[in-house]
Amino acid sequence: MQSYDIAPGVDAALGDFRVPERLGFGLVTAPVMYSVEYRDGAWGRGRLLPYAPIEVWPGSRALQYAELVFEGMKAYRVGRAWPNLFRAEDNCRRLARSAERLSMPAVPEPLFLEALDAVAGALAPSVPGQSGRALYLRPFLFGTESGYMLRNSTTFRFMVMASPVEPYATGAIRVLIERKDVRAVVGGVGEAKAAANYAASLRASTAAVARGCAVALWLDAGPQRTIQELSGMNLFAVIDGGLVTPALDGAILPGITRDSLIKLARHRGQRVLERRMPIDELLEQIASGACSELFACGTAAVVSPIAALVDADATEHAPARVDAVAAELREALLAIQERRVADPFGWTRDVARPPAAAPWARAVAG
Ligand code: COI
Repeated sequence: MQSYDIAPGVDAALGDFRVPERLGFGLVTAPVMYSVEYRDGAWGRGRLLPYAPIEVWPGSRALQYAELVFEGMKAYRVGRAWPNLFRAEDNCRRLARSAERLSMPAVPEPLFLEALDAVAGALAPSVPGQSGRALYLRPFLFGTESGYMLRNSTTFRFMVMASPVEPYATGAIRVLIERKDVRAVVGGVGEAKAAANYAASLRASTAAVARGCAVALWLDAGPQRTIQELSGMNLFAVIDGGLVTPALDGAILPGITRDSLIKLARHRGQRVLERRMPIDELLEQIASGACSELFACGTAAVVSPIAALVDADATEHAPARVDAVAAELREALLAIQERRVADPFGWTRDVARPPAAAPWARAVAG
């Protein structure tokens, strides 16, 4: 049964859409989006709409006080006509935890999945078919009430928009160690996927790009000695042949790709340690060769090899190997995400078929 409305213009917008060859990350926006509103303590009925500007009050708390949490996920369609999602329920649970941290209402799982199915189902023919490419899905929840009082909105909106994408970065990335700014503090909102965290990282990201790096590496908010994560990605090191990643400390985003790699690597018989990672120790381990490789991971990044850590004084710390263990893990993860191999974890699920009333339902029937 169709439980969301389809706005006029959706079919035409889908019909006009052509996926260009060059995708980059987020350069191409899909022509439809989903939106549903929360008021009087309840979620309303969702709508699939043409992608277009939306009206929000200038005084909305999302704009004034960053009352906004989001997710990043992907639909895959490699060698198949119909796309699948990856760990969608985990993204829903994380959005609920993020919402709880900002005391916003959770998006119930059936509504969350309906929104993703509506967008990914309508866009099924536009989900890229080449390995490594995917339809990036961006669910986000924000407060729409206008007002300067520092309290939550009473009205909210949950939306999903999408982009056919390539991985966030191509090739091995250089990473700038951020020694001045801090991104997140334990007890703050660092472990929530809150827009405010990403705002806090922007100055360092801009500085990193200006110095020929892709992203910044964040250290703890105290003495700045312990590694947290990269902007928008979690970090892994290969140390003495095993994988090491910073333990979740209450300020680090619990990445779903991070968690998938830990489980996948252990399943493949690799040693994985989640522990405190002092930056000085890691730099010494790179110099001595004990740390042979570094890589970053995330939904957008997939598994990105790291060529070097660059320090504030321009010293480069380059591990001996680039994209060896990372390449194996990337391929093993993508093979599951893209359903090219059996999924021993039960992580993937088909996107639901569009409602029969959707004009594009016949075109994608099969
Ligand atoms: C993701 O990987 O989905 C993120 O949200 C990170 C963002 C910097 C693109």
